[in-house]
Amino acid sequence: MWWANWLCLVFSLLRLTFAVFIDEVGVTDWALQSIGEYRCIVGDYIEEDLFLIVSNIDNISLLSLVNRTNGNLITRRVTASRIVDVKYDELQANLLLYDEDHATSQLSILNKDIYLKEISSMDVNYTIPSLCNKVNYKNIVITLEENMLKVIDPESKLTVISIPLPSNFKGIEYLKTDYLEELEILLSTNDLTYFYHNLTNDISTNSWYRDESVTDIVDFEFVDIIDHSMDSISMELNDENTFNNIWQAYNFRVKTNFNRLKKYAKAHHYSPGRMITDFFNIDLKKNVTSEKSLILRNSNDLIFGFKKLLVVLTQNRQLIALDINRGGEKIWSIQSKLSNVVSSFDWDATLNQLIIFNDQGDYEIWNLLKPVLEPTFKQNGTFKDSLPNANCNILDINRLSHNDKTYHVQLDCKDMDSNRIDMIVSLRNIHNNIHSTRFFVTHDNTTIKGHVVLNNTNKVIPTWQITLDNPNEKIVAFSYRHDVETVNPGLVLGNRTVLYKYLYPNIASYIVFNKITNKIYINIIDTLKGEILVSQMHDREYVDIDYPINILIGEHWVIYSYFSLEPIPEQKINVIELYESLIPNERISDSDNENFNPLKQSIKPKHMSRSYYYPEIINKMSISETKFDITTKSIILELANGQITFLPKYIIDARKKTESEMTDDDKKEFMASSYIPTIPINDLFVITHKRDLVFGKLSKLGSIATNLESTSIVCDVGHDIFCSRITPSGSFDVLDPNFETGKLVVSILVCLLLYLFLRPYVTKRRIKGLWLVHE
Ligand SMILES: *[C@@H]1O[C@H](CO)[C@@H](O)[C@H](O)[C@H]1NC(C)=O
Ligand SMILES: *[C@@H]1O[C@H](CO)[C@@H](O)[C@H](O)[C@H]1NC(C)=O
Ligand SMILES: *[C@@H]1O[C@H](CO)[C@@H](O)[C@H](O)[C@H]1NC(C)=O
Ligand SMILES: *[C@@H]1O[C@H](CO)[C@@H](O)[C@H](O)[C@H]1NC(C)=O
Ligand SMILES: *[C@@H]1O[C@H](CO)[C@@H](O)[C@H](O)[C@H]1NC(C)=O
Ligand SMILES: *[C@@H]1O[C@H](CO)[C@@H](O)[C@H](O)[C@H]1NC(C)=O
Ligand SMILES: *[C@@H]1O[C@H](CO)[C@@H](O)[C@H](O)[C@H]1NC(C)=O
Ligand SMILES: *[C@@H]1O[C@H](CO)[C@@H](O)[C@H](O)[C@H]1NC(C)=O
Ligand SMILES: *[C@@H]1O[C@H](CO)[C@@H](O)[C@H](O)[C@H]1NC(C)=O
Repeated sequence: MWWANWLCLVFSLLRLTFAVFIDEVGVTDWALQSIGEYRCIVGDYIEEDLFLIVSNIDNISLLSLVNRTNGNLITRRVTASRIVDVKYDELQANLLLYDEDHATSQLSILNKDIYLKEISSMDVNYTIPSLCNKVNYKNIVITLEENMLKVIDPESKLTVISIPLPSNFKGIEYLKTDYLEELEILLSTNDLTYFYHNLTNDISTNSWYRDESVTDIVDFEFVDIIDHSMDSISMELNDENTFNNIWQAYNFRVKTNFNRLKKYAKAHHYSPGRMITDFFNIDLKKNVTSEKSLILRNSNDLIFGFKKLLVVLTQNRQLIALDINRGGEKIWSIQSKLSNVVSSFDWDATLNQLIIFNDQGDYEIWNLLKPVLEPTFKQNGTFKDSLPNANCNILDINRLSHNDKTYHVQLDCKDMDSNRIDMIVSLRNIHNNIHSTRFFVTHDNTTIKGHVVLNNTNKVIPTWQITLDNPNEKIVAFSYRHDVETVNPGLVLGNRTVLYKYLYPNIASYIVFNKITNKIYINIIDTLKGEILVSQMHDREYVDIDYPINILIGEHWVIYSYFSLEPIPEQKINVIELYESLIPNERISDSDNENFNPLKQSIKPKHMSRSYYYPEIINKMSISETKFDITTKSIILELANGQITFLPKYIIDARKKTESEMTDDDKKEFMASSYIPTIPINDLFVITHKRDLVFGKLSKLGSIATNLESTSIVCDVGHDIFCSRITPSGSFDVLDPNFETGKLVVSILVCLLLYLFLRPYVTKRRIKGLWLVHE
């Protein structure tokens, strides 16, 4: 029955598409705004129902206003310098902010907002007392055995108020009491949770807590929650392939499908009405809040691969898992016992292990058997002994090989000839050898080095080196090409000719800045041989090195951004595209040659470049990841104003021409548009919406593919965390929630019926016509 199969196909396609609802703002994107570790709390001299909290971020400070009644964050403001003290000047009735003993600004709070006015430190009375000094414990007794905090009446020496301490108690951050019956207190714990209590006569009038642990992230990884709902089907397909006889396989298929149908009918008590309702989820679709629709949505999110954890490692040595699909909800957290600075961690999905490293060579391994269950401690260890000397700090750790748990470690060692040392470390104690040959590149601010680790060895052998000769020059940005799937080796032009992309995978690129001339140049190199493939000077521009410089390598292009002072101060974003040849239909590489050896042969690319202006300062850039790399790549940008936006790659295109130069053929090309040097900010592409976010200098942008090719998850992780889903080419693989499935199915059925009735009729007519029978 060909049509039944066909109908089934249509139905199965329709079923997949139900789940993405339109009201996704605040559902698919979320942000965690945190204050960080409280350095100073001001609760006096400002409005009664507010706390002003000072915390640090990079080398500046963050001022936050918190509602004292419920602990909600009202507003935040970053300062120009690191604030170490807050004082109250009684004469002028002013709050003053101090950095390293110099008053810098006068602070006022109006309409729940923070206003800062810079002052010259001359007019300041230095003898006024600080508001930040941690509480002195006179007449307060903390008994850790009883886990209680007691307030003693100074006269009678009796306990008048007592409250239980939180577990992991660290200290008292703010305290106000009359030593009789009232107590307002803010307590902190070692894992950065703050508890507030307001008591009168030992009765709590209000209390709240703020969890500030998810802040100042040093490293993060995405952990997939894998959908097992299709496993039985894929096993069936596997079984089917084992049959020698095609009829046996067919029989097997029919039988399993029939059994499935039987089960389905049984589950719905053999009621066709229920089956149909369930099939179309008619009542569910309309009621977004109902429990059943939530379950439906959850299972679809799983199938679509939206269910993932964002695991973050904080400066405070906590490893915390956040549910990306549910507003960043904390799923579990563990406290590492490593000393010193934790620098990174690694998620090994094949062994289900999380490995945390510190900068001294110690590590901890945790088993994460199920993503949603708290990991269990497995072992700790160290590779300190294999370091050249005790004065080495680890700069970077990258995994070289899955199965062997081998890592490439970059060290910064004092008392050595060369500061930078590369070594291979295996966390398996049996042998350190890796089981394939690997090439990699490292760099510091003046050199770029190529290395190889040969099969069955563990020695890093240097292969080539590029050193900057000019002492005034340094490398300010570096990037290499990550693995990307190539969908199409060529670019189809408007006149149906093809421009072949340069798809050689082993490339890296770096930008060199000269501090005397303030000029930059960019080089693209072959990472196996160290050969320079493309070099481009920016001769007529003066670059401001205080602004971020970023570089990215995509499939066959390099995009970089910098702030140029001359000819006009402007944020620049440039693109270089690499092609085998700039002549259409000319292909240099030989795709049939399997023995191509990049170490011996090589093809040099031809390149094109274009330069664009961007209206905002770009802090960070990253590339969006999708499952098959079919969707247009997007450049995700973190802007200096704390917003995150993205630019589809075709907007930053090196082949764009001005309107007058474009031929009719050019206009036929996919996504063709003319070259306009200024890229406007499209509000639709600002994915943070109106949120006020503070990421800090060390933030990282990350992207991970979902099971929907159109959709990519994007996160920015730093002081705050923000995650969202983007669909750079639109959600082409998802039906609109308003899509009228019922109508479509009805029209298909009507067509089918018409077809079934009309075909015999027409055949009959034709036969009759042949026989010249007249009705
Ligand atoms: C603080 O929260 C309380 C209770 O939710 C609310 O009544 C009050 O207006 C809030 N205060 C500020 C300053 O937002
Ligand atoms: C604390 O409790 C006292 C007494 O009930 C009350 O007057 C005061 O407003 C409370 N303070 C806050 C910030 O809730
Ligand atoms: C913070 O550090 C940056 C360099 O990392 C420096 O340019 C800036 O002046 C510093 N700011 C302060 C207030 O120290
Ligand atoms: C400075 O402040 C202290 C304490 O508030 C006060 O005693 C002193 O008179 C002030 N000095 C001046 C010059 O205002
Ligand atoms: C949606 O579902 C909820 C919970 O199941 C129910 O209380 C509510 O009445 C439903 N709304 C509509 C419009 O059916
Ligand atoms: C492993 O942990 C134990 C207990 O915390 C500690 O005594 C030991 O020094 C650790 N070993 C390493 C290599 O860090
Ligand atoms: C590495 O060497 C081993 C044996 O020496 C061999 O079995 C293996 O295939 C080699 N691996 C690669 C990637 O060449
Ligand atoms: C390169 O970095 C080292 C420290 O890693 C620093 O001492 C040196 O001054 C830097 N060189 C330049 C040219 O910035
Ligand atoms: C097709 O278009 C490209 C780019 O516009 C042009 O270079 C090429 O000559 C054209 N080829 C033919 C056959 O018209």
